[in-house]
Amino acid sequence: MNQQGFHSEFSADTLKGLSAKPKYLLSKYFYNDIGSRIFQDIMQMPEYYLTDCELEVFTSRHNEILSAFKADNKAFELIELGAGDGLKTKVLLSSLVHQKIDFKYIPIDISKQAVADLVQDLKKQIPDLPVEGIVGDYFNLIKKLNGQYRKIILFLGSNIGNFEWKESIRFLQHLRSVINIDDMVFIGFDLKKDPELILKAYNDPSGHTAAFNLNLLKRINDELGGHFDLLNFMHEEVYDEHTGTARSYLMSRKKQSVSIEKLGKVFEFEAGEKILMEISQKYDLELIHELAEKSGFQIVRNFMDSRQYFMNSLWKLKR
Ligand code: AVJ
Repeated sequence: MNQQGFHSEFSADTLKGLSAKPKYLLSKYFYNDIGSRIFQDIMQMPEYYLTDCELEVFTSRHNEILSAFKADNKAFELIELGAGDGLKTKVLLSSLVHQKIDFKYIPIDISKQAVADLVQDLKKQIPDLPVEGIVGDYFNLIKKLNGQYRKIILFLGSNIGNFEWKESIRFLQHLRSVINIDDMVFIGFDLKKDPELILKAYNDPSGHTAAFNLNLLKRINDELGGHFDLLNFMHEEVYDEHTGTARSYLMSRKKQSVSIEKLGKVFEFEAGEKILMEISQKYDLELIHELAEKSGFQIVRNFMDSRQYFMNSLWKLKR
Protein backbone atom coordinates (compact mmCIF):
# COMPACT_ATOMS: atom_id res chain seq x y z
CA MET A 1 0.00 0.00 0.00
CA ASN A 2 1.34 3.44 -0.77
CA GLN A 3 1.78 6.05 1.93
CA GLN A 4 -0.42 8.50 0.04
CA GLY A 5 -3.37 6.15 -0.05
CA PHE A 6 -2.92 5.37 3.60
CA HIS A 7 -2.71 9.02 4.54
CA SER A 8 -5.88 10.05 2.83
CA GLU A 9 -7.54 7.07 4.48
CA PHE A 10 -6.19 8.17 7.87
CA SER A 11 -7.50 11.71 7.36
CA ALA A 12 -10.87 10.52 6.10
CA ASP A 13 -11.30 8.11 9.02
CA THR A 14 -10.19 10.75 11.52
CA LEU A 15 -12.58 13.33 10.10
CA LYS A 16 -15.43 10.85 10.18
CA GLY A 17 -14.69 9.64 13.70
CA LEU A 18 -14.25 13.04 15.31
CA SER A 19 -17.35 14.40 13.55
CA ALA A 20 -19.48 11.50 14.81
CA LYS A 21 -21.61 11.57 17.96
CA PRO A 22 -20.28 10.04 20.13
CA LYS A 23 -16.74 10.63 18.84
CA TYR A 24 -14.51 7.68 18.01
CA LEU A 25 -11.14 6.87 16.42
CA LEU A 26 -10.04 3.58 14.84
CA SER A 27 -7.66 1.43 16.87
CA LYS A 28 -5.90 0.16 13.75
CA TYR A 29 -4.16 3.55 13.65
CA PHE A 30 -2.51 2.86 17.04
CA TYR A 31 0.17 0.86 15.28
CA ASN A 32 2.63 3.35 13.86
CA ASP A 33 6.25 2.54 14.74
CA ILE A 34 5.96 4.18 18.18
CA GLY A 35 2.59 2.59 18.88
CA SER A 36 3.89 -0.86 17.92
CA ARG A 37 6.69 -0.36 20.42
CA ILE A 38 4.28 0.70 23.17
CA PHE A 39 2.24 -2.42 22.40
CA GLN A 40 5.41 -4.48 22.98
CA ASP A 41 5.61 -2.91 26.45
CA ILE A 42 1.94 -3.75 27.06
CA MET A 43 2.59 -7.38 26.20
CA GLN A 44 5.40 -7.46 28.79
CA MET A 45 3.17 -6.23 31.61
CA PRO A 46 2.16 -8.83 34.21
CA GLU A 47 -1.45 -7.56 33.98
CA TYR A 48 -1.70 -8.25 30.25
CA TYR A 49 -2.33 -11.99 30.53
CA LEU A 50 -3.37 -12.51 26.88
CA THR A 51 0.10 -12.98 25.40
CA ASP A 52 1.24 -15.40 28.12
CA CYS A 53 -1.89 -17.50 27.73
CA GLU A 54 -1.61 -17.78 23.97
CA LEU A 55 2.10 -18.53 24.26
CA GLU A 56 1.24 -21.32 26.72
CA VAL A 57 -1.25 -22.77 24.22
CA PHE A 58 1.38 -22.72 21.47
CA THR A 59 4.15 -24.11 23.65
CA SER A 60 2.18 -26.90 25.28
CA ARG A 61 0.17 -27.97 22.24
CA HIS A 62 2.45 -27.29 19.26
CA ASN A 63 2.50 -30.90 18.14
CA GLU A 64 -1.27 -31.18 18.03
CA ILE A 65 -1.59 -27.78 16.38
CA LEU A 66 0.91 -28.70 13.68
CA SER A 67 -0.70 -32.07 12.93
CA ALA A 68 -3.99 -30.26 12.50
CA PHE A 69 -2.30 -27.77 10.13
CA LYS A 70 -0.56 -30.45 8.10
CA ALA A 71 -3.70 -32.24 6.94
CA ASP A 72 -2.57 -34.04 3.77
CA ASN A 73 1.03 -32.75 3.80
CA LYS A 74 0.47 -30.34 0.89
CA ALA A 75 2.80 -27.32 0.91
CA PHE A 76 1.21 -24.24 2.43
CA GLU A 77 1.62 -20.56 3.08
CA LEU A 78 1.33 -19.54 6.71
CA ILE A 79 -0.06 -16.02 6.56
CA GLU A 80 -0.19 -14.01 9.77
CA LEU A 81 -2.47 -10.97 9.94
CA GLY A 82 -0.98 -8.36 12.28
CA ALA A 83 2.16 -10.34 13.10
CA GLY A 84 3.84 -7.76 15.37
CA ASP A 85 6.91 -9.34 16.95
CA GLY A 86 5.75 -12.87 16.11
CA LEU A 87 6.66 -14.06 19.62
CA LYS A 88 4.04 -16.81 19.81
CA THR A 89 4.30 -17.81 16.17
CA LYS A 90 8.04 -18.53 16.54
CA VAL A 91 7.20 -21.59 18.61
CA LEU A 92 5.25 -23.02 15.68
CA LEU A 93 7.78 -21.86 13.09
CA SER A 94 10.69 -23.66 14.77
CA SER A 95 8.72 -26.91 14.95
CA LEU A 96 7.62 -26.61 11.32
CA VAL A 97 11.20 -26.08 10.14
CA HIS A 98 12.45 -28.85 12.40
CA GLN A 99 9.90 -31.28 10.98
CA LYS A 100 10.96 -30.25 7.44
CA ILE A 101 7.45 -29.26 6.47
CA ASP A 102 7.10 -27.51 3.12
CA PHE A 103 5.74 -24.07 3.92
CA LYS A 104 6.44 -20.36 3.73
CA TYR A 105 5.79 -17.81 6.48
CA ILE A 106 4.17 -14.54 5.36
CA PRO A 107 3.81 -12.06 8.24
CA ILE A 108 1.69 -8.99 7.47
CA ASP A 109 1.85 -5.92 9.67
CA ILE A 110 0.89 -2.29 9.36
CA SER A 111 4.17 -1.16 10.97
CA LYS A 112 7.15 -1.15 8.59
CA GLN A 113 9.53 -1.25 11.54
CA ALA A 114 7.74 -4.24 13.09
CA VAL A 115 8.00 -6.23 9.84
CA ALA A 116 11.67 -5.30 9.31
CA ASP A 117 12.57 -6.27 12.91
CA LEU A 118 10.62 -9.52 12.73
CA VAL A 119 12.17 -10.66 9.45
CA GLN A 120 15.67 -9.80 10.64
CA ASP A 121 15.10 -11.55 13.93
CA LEU A 122 13.73 -14.69 12.24
CA LYS A 123 16.67 -14.88 9.83
CA LYS A 124 18.94 -14.97 12.88
CA GLN A 125 16.91 -17.32 15.07
CA ILE A 126 15.57 -19.73 12.43
CA PRO A 127 17.95 -19.41 9.45
CA ASP A 128 16.21 -22.12 7.40
CA LEU A 129 12.82 -20.46 7.58
CA PRO A 130 11.39 -19.27 4.25
CA VAL A 131 9.88 -15.89 5.11
CA GLU A 132 8.44 -12.98 3.15
CA GLY A 133 7.22 -10.01 5.19
CA ILE A 134 4.52 -7.69 3.89
CA VAL A 135 3.89 -4.15 5.15
CA GLY A 136 0.30 -3.09 4.95
CA ASP A 137 -3.19 -2.96 6.29
CA TYR A 138 -4.62 -6.49 6.39
CA PHE A 139 -8.15 -5.10 6.17
CA ASN A 140 -7.22 -4.17 2.60
CA LEU A 141 -4.66 -6.87 1.88
CA ILE A 142 -6.91 -9.87 2.41
CA LYS A 143 -8.88 -8.69 -0.62
CA LYS A 144 -5.87 -9.65 -2.73
CA LEU A 145 -5.17 -13.09 -1.28
CA ASN A 146 -4.97 -15.79 -3.90
CA GLY A 147 -2.34 -18.02 -5.47
CA GLN A 148 -1.80 -21.69 -5.99
CA TYR A 149 -0.77 -22.67 -2.47
CA ARG A 150 -2.85 -23.97 0.35
CA LYS A 151 -3.18 -21.25 2.98
CA ILE A 152 -3.31 -21.25 6.75
CA ILE A 153 -4.24 -17.85 8.06
CA LEU A 154 -3.22 -16.85 11.58
CA PHE A 155 -5.23 -14.16 13.29
CA LEU A 156 -3.82 -14.26 16.79
CA GLY A 157 -3.74 -12.36 20.06
CA SER A 158 -7.49 -11.69 20.07
CA ASN A 159 -6.95 -9.07 17.37
CA ILE A 160 -10.40 -10.08 16.20
CA GLY A 161 -11.75 -8.50 19.40
CA ASN A 162 -11.11 -5.04 17.97
CA PHE A 163 -14.03 -5.52 15.57
CA GLU A 164 -17.62 -4.75 16.44
CA TRP A 165 -19.68 -7.98 16.21
CA LYS A 166 -21.17 -7.26 12.76
CA GLU A 167 -17.86 -6.05 11.46
CA SER A 168 -16.16 -9.27 12.62
CA ILE A 169 -18.74 -11.33 10.73
CA ARG A 170 -18.22 -9.22 7.61
CA PHE A 171 -14.44 -9.55 7.90
CA LEU A 172 -14.61 -13.33 8.33
CA GLN A 173 -17.16 -13.73 5.54
CA HIS A 174 -14.79 -11.83 3.35
CA LEU A 175 -11.89 -14.00 4.43
CA ARG A 176 -14.05 -17.01 3.67
CA SER A 177 -14.67 -15.78 0.13
CA VAL A 178 -10.95 -15.53 -0.69
CA ILE A 179 -9.83 -18.92 0.63
CA ASN A 180 -10.25 -22.46 -0.65
CA ILE A 181 -11.74 -25.67 0.62
CA ASP A 182 -8.51 -27.07 2.09
CA ASP A 183 -7.38 -23.77 3.63
CA MET A 184 -7.70 -23.06 7.35
CA VAL A 185 -7.96 -20.12 9.70
CA PHE A 186 -6.46 -20.15 13.20
CA ILE A 187 -7.94 -17.47 15.44
CA GLY A 188 -7.03 -16.36 18.98
CA PHE A 189 -9.94 -15.41 21.24
CA ASP A 190 -9.65 -13.86 24.67
CA LEU A 191 -12.31 -15.48 26.84
CA LYS A 192 -14.80 -13.90 29.26
CA LYS A 193 -13.48 -14.13 32.82
CA ASP A 194 -13.35 -12.28 36.14
CA PRO A 195 -14.13 -8.65 35.17
CA GLU A 196 -11.46 -7.43 37.61
CA LEU A 197 -8.75 -9.29 35.71
CA ILE A 198 -9.92 -7.91 32.40
CA LEU A 199 -10.05 -4.34 33.66
CA LYS A 200 -6.55 -4.65 35.12
CA ALA A 201 -5.17 -5.77 31.78
CA TYR A 202 -6.38 -2.50 30.22
CA ASN A 203 -5.95 -0.21 33.23
CA ASP A 204 -2.34 -0.78 34.13
CA PRO A 205 -0.74 1.31 36.90
CA SER A 206 2.39 1.75 34.75
CA GLY A 207 0.39 3.84 32.26
CA HIS A 208 1.40 1.95 29.10
CA THR A 209 -2.22 1.58 27.99
CA ALA A 210 -2.87 5.30 28.49
CA ALA A 211 0.28 6.10 26.49
CA PHE A 212 -0.87 3.67 23.77
CA ASN A 213 -4.15 5.54 23.41
CA LEU A 214 -2.65 9.03 23.68
CA ASN A 215 -0.12 8.14 21.00
CA LEU A 216 -2.92 8.21 18.45
CA LEU A 217 -3.65 11.86 19.33
CA LYS A 218 0.10 12.51 18.98
CA ARG A 219 -0.01 10.82 15.59
CA ILE A 220 -2.87 13.07 14.51
CA ASN A 221 -0.77 16.05 15.63
CA ASP A 222 2.29 14.85 13.71
CA GLU A 223 0.67 13.62 10.53
CA LEU A 224 -2.46 15.75 10.18
CA GLY A 225 -1.35 18.99 11.83
CA GLY A 226 -3.51 18.43 14.89
CA HIS A 227 -3.31 20.57 18.01
CA PHE A 228 -4.23 18.06 20.70
CA ASP A 229 -2.70 18.81 24.10
CA LEU A 230 -2.22 15.28 25.42
CA LEU A 231 -2.31 16.51 29.02
CA ASN A 232 -5.94 17.51 28.48
CA PHE A 233 -7.09 13.92 27.90
CA MET A 234 -7.38 11.02 30.30
CA HIS A 235 -7.59 7.30 29.60
CA GLU A 236 -10.64 5.40 30.86
CA GLU A 237 -11.52 1.72 30.56
CA VAL A 238 -15.00 0.21 30.91
CA TYR A 239 -15.89 -3.49 30.83
CA ASP A 240 -19.43 -4.75 30.29
CA GLU A 241 -19.42 -8.27 31.69
CA HIS A 242 -22.79 -9.13 30.13
CA THR A 243 -21.73 -8.50 26.56
CA GLY A 244 -18.02 -9.19 27.19
CA THR A 245 -16.99 -5.89 25.64
CA ALA A 246 -14.09 -3.83 27.02
CA ARG A 247 -14.02 -0.26 25.77
CA SER A 248 -11.11 2.17 25.87
CA TYR A 249 -11.83 5.87 25.95
CA LEU A 250 -9.93 9.12 26.06
CA MET A 251 -11.88 11.62 28.12
CA SER A 252 -11.54 15.38 27.71
CA ARG A 253 -10.51 16.86 31.06
CA LYS A 254 -12.13 20.19 30.18
CA LYS A 255 -14.16 22.05 27.60
CA GLN A 256 -11.78 22.68 24.72
CA SER A 257 -11.45 23.26 20.98
CA VAL A 258 -8.88 21.33 18.94
CA SER A 259 -8.03 22.29 15.39
CA ILE A 260 -6.63 19.82 12.89
CA GLU A 261 -5.02 21.70 10.03
CA LYS A 262 -5.07 19.02 7.32
CA LEU A 263 -8.77 18.46 7.98
CA GLY A 264 -9.40 22.22 7.93
CA LYS A 265 -11.64 21.84 10.98
CA VAL A 266 -11.94 22.67 14.65
CA PHE A 267 -13.44 20.01 16.93
CA GLU A 268 -15.27 20.96 20.12
CA PHE A 269 -14.98 18.86 23.28
CA GLU A 270 -17.17 19.18 26.35
CA ALA A 271 -15.62 18.60 29.77
CA GLY A 272 -15.90 14.84 30.36
CA GLU A 273 -16.69 14.07 26.71
CA LYS A 274 -15.22 10.75 25.60
CA ILE A 275 -13.62 9.52 22.39
CA LEU A 276 -14.10 5.76 21.93
CA MET A 277 -10.62 4.53 21.01
CA GLU A 278 -10.86 0.74 20.96
CA ILE A 279 -13.08 -2.18 21.76
CA SER A 280 -11.60 -5.48 22.95
CA GLN A 281 -14.31 -8.12 22.80
CA LYS A 282 -14.16 -11.14 25.12
CA TYR A 283 -15.76 -14.41 23.99
CA ASP A 284 -17.18 -17.70 25.22
CA LEU A 285 -17.68 -20.97 23.33
CA GLU A 286 -21.20 -20.00 22.40
CA LEU A 287 -20.08 -16.73 20.82
CA ILE A 288 -17.22 -18.45 19.00
CA HIS A 289 -19.62 -21.06 17.58
CA GLU A 290 -22.04 -18.37 16.53
CA LEU A 291 -19.28 -16.37 14.86
CA ALA A 292 -18.03 -19.41 12.92
CA GLU A 293 -21.57 -20.37 11.93
CA LYS A 294 -22.58 -16.89 10.78
CA SER A 295 -19.44 -16.35 8.75
CA GLY A 296 -19.55 -19.71 6.98
CA PHE A 297 -16.88 -21.65 8.86
CA GLN A 298 -16.84 -24.80 10.94
CA ILE A 299 -14.64 -25.38 13.96
CA VAL A 300 -12.02 -28.08 13.42
CA ARG A 301 -10.53 -27.97 16.90
CA ASN A 302 -10.12 -25.68 19.91
CA PHE A 303 -7.04 -25.28 22.10
CA MET A 304 -7.12 -23.63 25.54
CA ASP A 305 -4.52 -22.64 28.13
CA SER A 306 -4.50 -24.24 31.60
CA ARG A 307 -6.30 -21.31 33.25
CA GLN A 308 -8.94 -21.32 30.48
CA TYR A 309 -8.42 -17.62 29.85
CA PHE A 310 -7.76 -17.88 26.12
CA MET A 311 -8.82 -20.03 23.19
CA ASN A 312 -7.18 -20.70 19.84
CA SER A 313 -9.74 -22.02 17.41
CA LEU A 314 -8.92 -23.73 14.11
CA TRP A 315 -11.55 -23.27 11.40
CA LYS A 316 -12.22 -24.51 7.90
CA LEU A 317 -14.93 -23.72 5.40
CA LYS A 318 -18.35 -25.00 6.27
CA ARG A 319 -19.43 -27.70 3.87
C1 AVJ B 1 -3.76 -6.42 20.06
C2 AVJ B 1 -6.03 -5.85 19.76
C3 AVJ B 1 -5.46 -7.80 20.97
O1 AVJ B 1 -7.33 -5.42 22.42
O2 AVJ B 1 -6.16 -6.56 23.86
C4 AVJ B 1 -3.84 -3.94 24.36
C5 AVJ B 1 -4.63 -4.24 21.91
N1 AVJ B 1 -5.17 -2.47 23.58
N2 AVJ B 1 -4.07 -3.05 25.31
C6 AVJ B 1 -6.26 -5.88 22.83
C7 AVJ B 1 -4.55 -3.57 23.26
C8 AVJ B 1 -4.87 -2.14 24.85
C9 AVJ B 1 -4.99 -5.68 22.00
N3 AVJ B 1 -5.07 -6.41 20.70
